[in-house]
This record gives sequence, C-alpha cells and structure tokens, in this order.
Amino acid sequence: MQKKVLAIYYSQSGQLKAALDSVLGGLQDSNIVVTTVELKPRKAFPYPWGFFEFMGIFPECVYMDGCELEPLNVGGEYDLVILGYQPWFLSPSLPVSGFLKSEEASTLLRDKPVMTLIACRNMWLMAQEKVKKSLSNIGAKLIANAVLIDGGSSLATFVTTPRWMFTGKKYALWGMFPPAGVTEDEIRKARRFGVAIREALADGELDESVLRGLKAADADKGLIKSEEIGHKSFLIWGRLIKKLSVPYSLGRKIAVSFYLVFLILLIMTVVPINMVLQRLLAKLFRGKVDAKKAYYDAPSGCDDFRMKDFA
Ligand SMILES: Cc1cc2nc3c(=O)[nH]c(=O)nc-3n(C[C@H](O)[C@H](O)[C@H](O)COP(=O)(O)O)c2cc1C
Repeated sequence: MQKKVLAIYYSQSGQLKAALDSVLGGLQDSNIVVTTVELKPRKAFPYPWGFFEFMGIFPECVYMDGCELEPLNVGGEYDLVILGYQPWFLSPSLPVSGFLKSEEASTLLRDKPVMTLIACRNMWLMAQEKVKKSLSNIGAKLIANAVLIDGGSSLATFVTTPRWMFTGKKYALWGMFPPAGVTEDEIRKARRFGVAIREALADGELDESVLRGLKAADADKGLIKSEEIGHKSFLIWGRLIKKLSVPYSLGRKIAVSFYLVFLILLIMTVVPINMVLQRLLAKLFRGKVDAKKAYYDAPSGCDDFRMKDFA
C-alpha cells in the first residue's frame, strides 16, 4: 500500500533544507509519496542578520511566541511527518514555534508519528524538550530525532557561527577556523535516516526503533548543564526584556545591550568552566550524567550498531 510522508521545514541559509533533502533522498521509493512544504513567515527574518535584530528576538524565541506564517495549504493523512528545524536561543526557531502553535499543526500532526530533524551549531537539547512538549500537547507522537551539528569544535563555532549568521560567509578562516555549519559529508550521510524509514515503512508500522543504531542523536555530556543553566537564565532575562520593550524598538536595543554583557560573561565563563567540570564530574557522577544523556538522546539514541549497513 502506498505510504505518505509530509516534510515540513524552515531554513535561512539552506542548510536545514540540504539535510532534509539528503534524508528524503534515502526515502525515495515508488510506494512512498513525499510532500515537502516550507514554513514561510509573513514577514521574513533577515539573513544575514543585523546584530541587534539577531539579539533582539531572543525573548520571543525563548517564550516560543512564534510568528505569523503563510498558510501551508496541505491537508490529508500522513504515515509520517518529518519536522526539520533549527534551534534559535535554545528554543525552536520562531517560524517553527509559530507552526507548532497553529491550527494547521494540530490538524496535520494529531495522532501522527513525527520525526524531528535538527541541523544546528551544537546546542539543541532545550529546543528539543520544547518541541517534544508542543508535540505532546498536540497529540502527536515523536518516534525519532536525528541531529546534525556543526563540524567545528565549540570554541571554533563560537567564532564561525556568528560570522556566518552576521555576514553569510561560511568558508574557512585564516587556516585556523573550519567552514561554519554541518559538514557536507555529514549532510550526505544523513541519507541513512531516509533509508531506515523507507525500510520500516515497507515492513509495516513505524515505531521508536526506526533510527536506533544509526547515531541519530548524540547529546554532548559537557553541554547538558550549560544548556540547562543557559535556558533558565534566558527565561528570567527574556521575561524582563519582554516587559521593558517591544521587538525592534530602541528600548529593546538598550535592554538587550545590558543582557549582552551578562551573556558574553556567561559564555566566556560558565560554558567553558562547565564543559571542563562536567567532563571531570562525569567520572564521579557517571550514572546520573549517563541517564540524562540517554534521556536527551531518546527516542533514537546515539548507538551505532547499524552504521556498518550504511558504510
Ligand atoms: C537567532 C539565532 C539563534 C541561534 N541559536 C542557536 C542555538 O541556541 N543553538 C544552536 O546550536 N544553534 C543556534 N543557531 C544556529 C542555527 O541553529 C542554525 O544552525 C543556523 O541558523 C543555520 O540554519 P538554517 O540556515 O538552516 O536556517 C542560531 C541561529 C540563529 C539565527
């Protein structure tokens, strides 16, 4: 019987779209009909970003205010919905939040198996928690999550990601910084997720085992605490900044400037200290940290026992 897959995504630079295309490439089959739709904000977000435009939207991101979207104009029943998104400020990007709040999302996703596909720098745990909650509120069932992260180290991407976002320049810099973004090789290899889904669809029902063994979601233990602390701080500052100012106003610029000093200090101190501390403490509290990692990696996990089939 013919199967129907709906792929919904948002992407500014095309990175998320490239990752999705790679997955969908592995899904190609005469028995599978794929419909792909792009989330289109009514008012487009800038890319490359202006500095204050970028920083200024963080409260709305954290509180998942979303944004108005053009209608998707898709309907029908699907055997699987793939939601491709990127985190913005440890939260789903505003177009994705907007979608998750919409009537269309309720209609399309209720009672449906959903796979999330993330392509981002390296901090996706809190965003995925929020997406999980939204999906559960809608009544959708998250059966898989695949995450592609930037090829560079945390330190390198601290330079290369902002450079990319603010200038659109992705290429390597001064022989010491790699190109920004997920590597082409990782994007190409994301095809394995599509192949696994194709095989599962052919065999019958999809369940949470569909992407297991394929190194689909591998939370960085060293970043778990930083994300948890960072998110709490975003919520506190975000509420304050939202109270004091509206987006794109002078007041927002001033409020965000204050916050920025705090954020830079946080990134330069708490994040690296935590990364080292967490790696050291990981040995002491291995059980607890491992349990947290397993929770964030679920449902697809970071095991690689099926990778040999895709070598
Ligand atoms: C406003 C903004 C905030 C971002 N915040 C995060 C973040 O919290 N964690 C992360 O790993 N990447 C973050 N990124 C990077 C994105 O997740 C993503 O990798 C990048 O925007 C490219 O995606 P796209 O071109 O496919 O839309 C952020 C990007 C933007 C524009």
